[in-house]
Amino acid sequence: MPATVTDTVLSPINIKQWVEDHIDEFKPPVSNKYLYLGKDFFVMVIGGPNARNDFHKTDSEEYFYQLKGDICVHTIENGTIVDHVIREGETFFIPPNVPHAPQRPPGSIGIVVERNRPDGETEHQQFYCPSCHELVWNEEFDCKDIVEHFSSSMESFWADDERATCSNCKTRIKKPAPVARIETEPDVRVIREGE
Ligand SMILES: [Fe+2]
Repeated sequence: MPATVTDTVLSPINIKQWVEDHIDEFKPPVSNKYLYLGKDFFVMVIGGPNARNDFHKTDSEEYFYQLKGDICVHTIENGTIVDHVIREGETFFIPPNVPHAPQRPPGSIGIVVERNRPDGETEHQQFYCPSCHELVWNEEFDCKDIVEHFSSSMESFWADDERATCSNCKTRIKKPAPVARIETEPDVRVIREGE
């Protein structure tokens, strides 16, 4: 997280222009950049494509606004993976402790607002089996920088045969290619580069 808290009044920012000006800094696997870092909450702009199949779970709420393009957010609800397509112009709210995994195609731009974590709150990075929806790996940490920490943590998971294999059905969770597009007919499907 940037060291400087936004504590002065800034001029309004045209987000699409701001993304164009910083396009080289939106790098997979997460493809995000901080827009505002406040005392109470922070705002990220998240581009695409991302290249991740981890789920994020915290005791904090998250607010999504999709500025450009359509994305898909996988959530875990009642033990199964649910696909939510968030279309351009739509908004989405994730209650606390709902594991979620946004899938963002190239050219998409989303806004995510999260609160600064209170002392002692932990972050969970989880992986669920895409075949049987079993929780395959859960890592809990006190996280000060979700950009750096999450990237290195998921890289080490993908490289580890034992951790990344579902004990229930033996599906190996691999490092995913970047999202190429989201299909919604007949079913929601995230198509990755090379598929
Ligand atoms: Fe499985």
